[in-house]
Amino acid sequence: MTKNGKWVLRHRPQAALVETDLDWVQEALPELRDGELLVRNIYLSLDPTNRIWMSDREQYLPPVQIGDTMRGTTIGVVEQSRSDRFAPGDIVMPAMGGWQDYTVSPERMTRKLNVAPGIPLTAYLSVLGPTGLTAYFGLLDIGQPKEGETLVLSAAAGAVGSIAGQIGKIKGCHVVGIAGGAAKCDWLTEELGFDGAVDYKAQEVGAALDRLCPTGIDIDFENVGGAIMEAVFSRLNRNGRMILCGLISAYNDEGPVPGPADFGRILMQRLTVRGFIVIDYLARAGEAFADLGRWIAEGRIKWKDHVVPGLEKAPDSLQLLFTGQHDGKLLIRVSDEP
Ligand SMILES: NC(=O)c1ccc[n+]([C@@H]2O[C@H](COP(=O)([O-])OP(=O)(O)OC[C@H]3O[C@@H](n4cnc5c(N)ncnc54)[C@H](OP(=O)(O)O)[C@@H]3O)[C@@H](O)[C@H]2O)c1
Repeated sequence: MTKNGKWVLRHRPQAALVETDLDWVQEALPELRDGELLVRNIYLSLDPTNRIWMSDREQYLPPVQIGDTMRGTTIGVVEQSRSDRFAPGDIVMPAMGGWQDYTVSPERMTRKLNVAPGIPLTAYLSVLGPTGLTAYFGLLDIGQPKEGETLVLSAAAGAVGSIAGQIGKIKGCHVVGIAGGAAKCDWLTEELGFDGAVDYKAQEVGAALDRLCPTGIDIDFENVGGAIMEAVFSRLNRNGRMILCGLISAYNDEGPVPGPADFGRILMQRLTVRGFIVIDYLARAGEAFADLGRWIAEGRIKWKDHVVPGLEKAPDSLQLLFTGQHDGKLLIRVSDEP
């Protein structure tokens, strides 16, 4: 009998996730009921927000409960179907596949993917998936970029940052990325067309921004928080916008996350600081995918997927997001593509 292997939350991590925070459990697969599908997961998306879901801090979805399968977004193939709308062999995205080999997915919560020729399946969890939506709506809807404005992104060589920066270039912005290490910075300027890059591990960020953004900063696409956010925030021009996408530097800590030291700048410089969560934009996903698909076809958007083989590697691999030792959208290969 086929068993389902899965990661279950044993207790809430105290700091960075360690493997003993989760249990590896194997269980028999349940019988399908009418309207359900058995999906064999192929790729699992690892995201910084996974660490938030493991905590019981205030968040935008209910925390994963102790003893529950770890939540995560997957792409898989239908192996059994008790739905008229799906057939074995269909490639699908269950609503939340989870950190597991198989997902029993209700048909109404399952999206069929039409994989375009020449596009790898992994792209549907990155540039043509939640990552692309985050970059697209964060920059365009919240940031409202205008031609000639200066856009600075933190975690710029990461999954979201690298796409958002390229959209900024398409919209005519002067784009500067902040990333860890010379190789990532070179990729931004030499391959993706960014106008400048700051290696925050080797350079003083504020001084580098002064050099690379001579007219100040109009838009901060904020992914990191802390000292990096402070350096960008304190250089925002009048009517500047902070797109508050993420605060990854604080995800392993407990307690409130500090904001910019000089709150008064928001008043004096008429700044807009606006947080957003990509799930609020799912109804408009088609808009984003149409533009992103066209830009990919035109060679104006490039991306990288970093695939780690083996679901057993998921807990260890999540750490790569916090050390930056991954290169592009971080994914786990749970099983082979059909
Ligand atoms: N609001 C939303 O709906 C939404 C949706 C998706 C993602 N996000 C947020 O977007 C951000 C990026 O997510 P992603 O999935 O694209 O991951 P990612 O950028 O591919 O990976 C995270 C990156 O963060 C950087 N980083 C980690 N800890 C850091 C620290 N202490 N100081 C400076 N940089 C640090 C690392 O970049 P370096 O190698 O350059 O150090 C790492 O590569 C996260 O904050 C995430 O929570 C938000």
